[in-house]
Amino acid sequence: MDKKATLTLNDGKSLDFPVLSGSIGPEVIDIRTLYAKSGMFTYDPGFLSTASCNSSITYIDGDAGVLLYRGYPIEQLAQHCDFLETCYLLLNGELPNARDKDAFVSTVTRHTMVHDQLTRFFTGFRRDAHPMAVLVGVVGALSAFYHDSLDINNPEHRKISAFRLIAKLPTIVAMAYKYNTGQPFVYPRNDLSYSANFMRMMFAVPAEEYKVNPVLVRALDRILILHADHEQNASTSTVRLSGSSGANPFACIAAGIACLWGPAHGGANEAALNMLEEIGDASKIPEFIKQVKDKNSGSKLMGFGHRVYKNYDPRAKLMRETCHEVLNELGLQNDRLFKLAMALEKVALEDEYFVSRKLYPNVDFYSGIVQRALGIPVSMFTCIFSLARTVGWIAQWNEMISDPEQKIGRPRQLYKGAARREVQPIDKR
Ligand code: ACO
Repeated sequence: MDKKATLTLNDGKSLDFPVLSGSIGPEVIDIRTLYAKSGMFTYDPGFLSTASCNSSITYIDGDAGVLLYRGYPIEQLAQHCDFLETCYLLLNGELPNARDKDAFVSTVTRHTMVHDQLTRFFTGFRRDAHPMAVLVGVVGALSAFYHDSLDINNPEHRKISAFRLIAKLPTIVAMAYKYNTGQPFVYPRNDLSYSANFMRMMFAVPAEEYKVNPVLVRALDRILILHADHEQNASTSTVRLSGSSGANPFACIAAGIACLWGPAHGGANEAALNMLEEIGDASKIPEFIKQVKDKNSGSKLMGFGHRVYKNYDPRAKLMRETCHEVLNELGLQNDRLFKLAMALEKVALEDEYFVSRKLYPNVDFYSGIVQRALGIPVSMFTCIFSLARTVGWIAQWNEMISDPEQKIGRPRQLYKGAARREVQPIDKR
């Protein structure tokens, strides 16, 4: 029998609503007819209890600490796949075989260059512009370059836009960095892997040969895999909402980048790194823990806690492992901040305050340390996150456009302003 939920109103009237089941995860009450039946809306700022769409891409079980892309655990993807295989999976629903992978990699690789005219956009920015400001602008500007593929109702157009975005983001992110530092742009090289090419575009200079370090490339690739998608978070919901009006994919991804820029979303790894610098020494940990437990202090243990994960964020475990690999490779086993982070994690995980509130390390606790070791400056952290998340955004956008239930996103409100009143002439106000 079909499940239903019954809402009983004060006047004794009852309304039935269908209960829908996904493949896994909580069931949802389908309230689409609520307003028509009752004249009432639901009130849920921050979407604490609202499923805004149906999706087959990413699944999170926050209590169990599980993250699946298209059903595959993140741990297995991080171990057995590279970032472009993960992109293929997110976009197409299945992992590629060797032939599919070759074709996919070849297409991405051949779209990495940007239109030469696009390089002029960079010079319009001040040299000290935040690279995220540059990224929002330049990615938005891509819409003006690809009039040939902006019909969002054409699956082929959507596919080519996905390739263009995934392929060009590393080039644009690296250009934003080079522009900041005053160094010349480095063009992509088609004989390198996606992540190796990105590192070369970031760190090579014309004066000498750039040597690719496979351990560091693998670490970056893993960062990209771990950040590739995370179901209906703020930036992904922004991309979906922007796209629901029919806006083109480049404009929608620029909107997602803008949302990710906020410190409550993409900026937490920077905050975690700054916090470690501030603590400075393991002897200061007890004092710092005392401070974050005090609600009046206004400070939090950055990189701890998550809206969805009430267990160890599975990405944090992988990031800690990657941290070990990178620091060993660079001979930095005794890295001060990494040691401090591990000591801090240990103290917090044994502390009643954190245990009772189910506060565990999230992905940001270690990702700043890894990126710093790779030579990526703090100001670029959110750009790297944008680069990784672009595939998730575009997969979610594509899924939305293909969904027959898709409608323009239009939330309602609980109005608390003035009721109707009459405008008085200016001399009577
Ligand atoms: N340090 C100290 N106390 C914390 C922390 C923390 N990092 N996180 C939550 N708490 C406390 C809250 O004060 C609250 O305590 P109370 O019940 O006594 O009032 C309780 O734990 C529950 O916290 P909420 O804020 O209700 O949890 P919510 O789900 O709204 O917030 C959030 C999650 C925003 C991530 C929060 O844990 C936080 O601010 N963490 C630090 C910032 C951070 O690392 N953000 C990265 C998120 S991951 C990402 O975006 C990729």
